[in-house]
Amino acid sequence: MHVCQVTFSPTGGTQRVADIVSEGLGAVAERIDLTDPDLDLASVNLDEEDVVVISVPSYGGRVPAFASQRLAQVHGGGARAVLVCVYGNRAYEDTLAELEDVARAAGFCVVAALAAVAEHSIMRQYATGRPDDADRAALSDMARRIAEKLSGPNADAAPAGVPGSRPYKKAGGATLVPKGDKSCVSCGRCAQRCPARAIDPASPRKTDAARCIGCMRCVAECPQGARKVNAALVAAASAAMKKACSVRKEPELYL
Ligand SMILES: Cc1cc2nc3c(=O)[nH]c(=O)nc-3n(C[C@H](O)[C@H](O)[C@H](O)COP(=O)(O)O)c2cc1C
Repeated sequence: MHVCQVTFSPTGGTQRVADIVSEGLGAVAERIDLTDPDLDLASVNLDEEDVVVISVPSYGGRVPAFASQRLAQVHGGGARAVLVCVYGNRAYEDTLAELEDVARAAGFCVVAALAAVAEHSIMRQYATGRPDDADRAALSDMARRIAEKLSGPNADAAPAGVPGSRPYKKAGGATLVPKGDKSCVSCGRCAQRCPARAIDPASPRKTDAARCIGCMRCVAECPQGARKVNAALVAAASAAMKKACSVRKEPELYL
C-alpha cells in the first residue's frame, strides 16, 4: 500500500493522530503539509494506487477554512482517502461531513472516516496529554480494520453514517489573535512558521489580525513563551466549555 499523508496540524495534535493511523496502514511514503505556505499544492497529483490519510483539526465544529482552501488545490486523482478529524474533546459537529465533501471535490475516493481527541490547542487543560495510550490502542485497531476493508471487495465503498449536517453549522466566532509580549527577542520563528503569514518578521510582536487564523502555532512554538492570547477571553471560553469538555470522548470510526 502506498500510504501518503495530507495534514493540517498547526500545533502537532492532529499530526500525532495522523501518524498512529497511517503507520497502522503501512510505511508513510509521502507527507504533504497543508500548513506550509510555500508548498505548491496545485502540483500535487495523487492517483488510484495511493491511500491518503487526510487529517485536520476541528475549529468550531468545522474544517478550518484555511485547510479546506489548501486541500481543494490538491489533485486527488481517485486516490482512496481515510479522513481524520481531531478535536479538543468538546465536539466536532460537521467537521467530518465537510471534510468528506472537500475531499470528494478534490478528486478523492473517500473510504473511511474517523474522529479522535488531542489536547485542546487553546485551552490546554482539556484533553491534556491526548492522544494517550488508550487512544493509541484504539486508533491502531481502527487502522487494522481500515486495512482489512481496503484489501476486501468493498475497498472503494463510501463510509456509512459519517456524522454531520448539511448545510454545515455557521463557521466559528471571533478569532483569538496572539501577540508577542516584552519577553519577545525578535528571533522570527513565529513569522517563519505562521501558516497564514500573519506575522511580519521585522516586527514580530504584532500580528496582522486580518490574516491570522487563530491556529496557535506561534504560541506553541515561541521559544520564549512570549506569544499570548487575551487571557480574559480564554478564561471566559474555558468556563463556557467546561461541562462539554470534561467528559472523556473516545475515537470513532466510520467504515
Ligand atoms: C480556532 C480553534 C477552534 C477550535 N475549535 C474546537 C471545537 O470546536 N471543538 C473542539 O473539541 N476542539 C476545538 N479546538 C481544539 C482543536 O481542534 C484541537 O486541539 C486539535 O487537536 C488542534 O490540532 P493541532 O494540534 O494539530 O493544531 C479548536 C482549536 C482552535 C485553535
